[in-house]
Amino acid sequence: MDLSPKLMLILLLVLFLTPEYTLAAKHKRACKASVTQSGPSATVTQSIDAIILVAEPTSSSDISTPTSGLGAVQTTEASTPLYTDKVIGSMDLPKSDTISAVSATSTSDGNITASSVVGTTTSVAGSLSVPATSSATTNGSPSAGKAGVGLPVQEVDAAPVAQFFTPESTVAWWFNWNKNWNQGVMTSDGVSIDGEFVPMIFGPTYLDNEDTFQEGFTELMGYNEPDLKTSTGVSVYLEPAQAAETWKTQIVQIRQQYPNVKIHSPVMASNKTWLSDFFKAICPDNSPSDGWGDCVYKPDYVSTHLYNTDVEYFKGTLTAFQKEFGLPMVLSEFACYQFGSDPHPSLEEVSTFMQETTAWLDQQDWVVKYAWFGNARNSEYLFGVYETNRLMDASGALTDLGRQYMNGGKKISA
Ligand SMILES: *[C@@H]1O[C@H](CO)[C@@H](O)[C@H](O)[C@H]1NC(C)=O
Ligand SMILES: *[C@@H]1O[C@H](CO)[C@@H](O)[C@H](O)[C@H]1NC(C)=O
Repeated sequence: MDLSPKLMLILLLVLFLTPEYTLAAKHKRACKASVTQSGPSATVTQSIDAIILVAEPTSSSDISTPTSGLGAVQTTEASTPLYTDKVIGSMDLPKSDTISAVSATSTSDGNITASSVVGTTTSVAGSLSVPATSSATTNGSPSAGKAGVGLPVQEVDAAPVAQFFTPESTVAWWFNWNKNWNQGVMTSDGVSIDGEFVPMIFGPTYLDNEDTFQEGFTELMGYNEPDLKTSTGVSVYLEPAQAAETWKTQIVQIRQQYPNVKIHSPVMASNKTWLSDFFKAICPDNSPSDGWGDCVYKPDYVSTHLYNTDVEYFKGTLTAFQKEFGLPMVLSEFACYQFGSDPHPSLEEVSTFMQETTAWLDQQDWVVKYAWFGNARNSEYLFGVYETNRLMDASGALTDLGRQYMNGGKKISA
């Protein structure tokens, strides 16, 4: 193991007399955990779920520069922290210290368990006293981490989205149908947004355009609604075979450049047949029954949109969609609305729909992420979705529905 200073390792462990940390899993899966332990707490990314746990001392006096008693960790690629905004420090790993590995797993109820384990050592002299294992479980809610919001790039100013990312909010991620937000795509002067941003390649020409991907991104959304023929600019229509050709070149390029990034399939407006034809074109020798086997062109997740007002239809449609493609699923747009039938659901109906659908989405372990649609100041950027679905009003202030969404989708009693 190379322990040269070049290999700056992120500080995972601080031992104090009364160590007490908040172990926060930011961005995904869980929000907060209180941890009291004498062993290490951690900064971890888990390869599958990219869980990032960040140890934050509960009082500022604890943020003194650690001297002795530092454990340190994690040199495998899967553990390279992708987000460092809340990491409390970094250090060179002293050659003599015991290496403590840290792992994190999420349970189906949304809790996160972080464990520290004494791992292999290079040489031990004056080794740390690290418990063989120490663990802490979050009291995360199952919803934590899946919910996101989109703020259409046409809104230009990114600032209003920041309000969704409070410590109490279950909203964990956001997107703008484009490649970055504060690297030139939106205005962002002085805006800080404490949530994961997921870039998108809106259509094939976007991959190599002049915009850069958001720094530190861990997931990438695929072409937007290529199954939709429309002149409204919300999609770039492609035949499945045509999309498959560019996809095969582009996914190879992306995987080479960003090997750890999770890639979403092209995002369907609604047409399962389109996506099925697409998969047959990119992975002709594989099938969904084994998750498309070793097909090098397969995405990590399948992705769709769904606009409907009927909760049972919603559940059935998404279940069938995921079954057909056999990969974990992202629902990156949904609302209580149905295009073509022009429903005008009341605020109350939308609120109930949100509560029931989000509760169900949270329970399905094959749902990776979801995002309510209806988050823009300008009505034009609701693209026809009925106004009662708004998470923010025309001035950018949160609506009651926006607050409900931040509350795990559960209605807030007045
Ligand atoms: C998850 O956390 C809740 C609330 O703290 C707790 O009741 C439950 O037992 C935990 N589940 C597991 C699997 O630890
Ligand atoms: C769905 O996609 C397939 C494949 O491109 C196409 O043949 C079919 O017409 C589409 N269906 C609808 C309803 O647009």
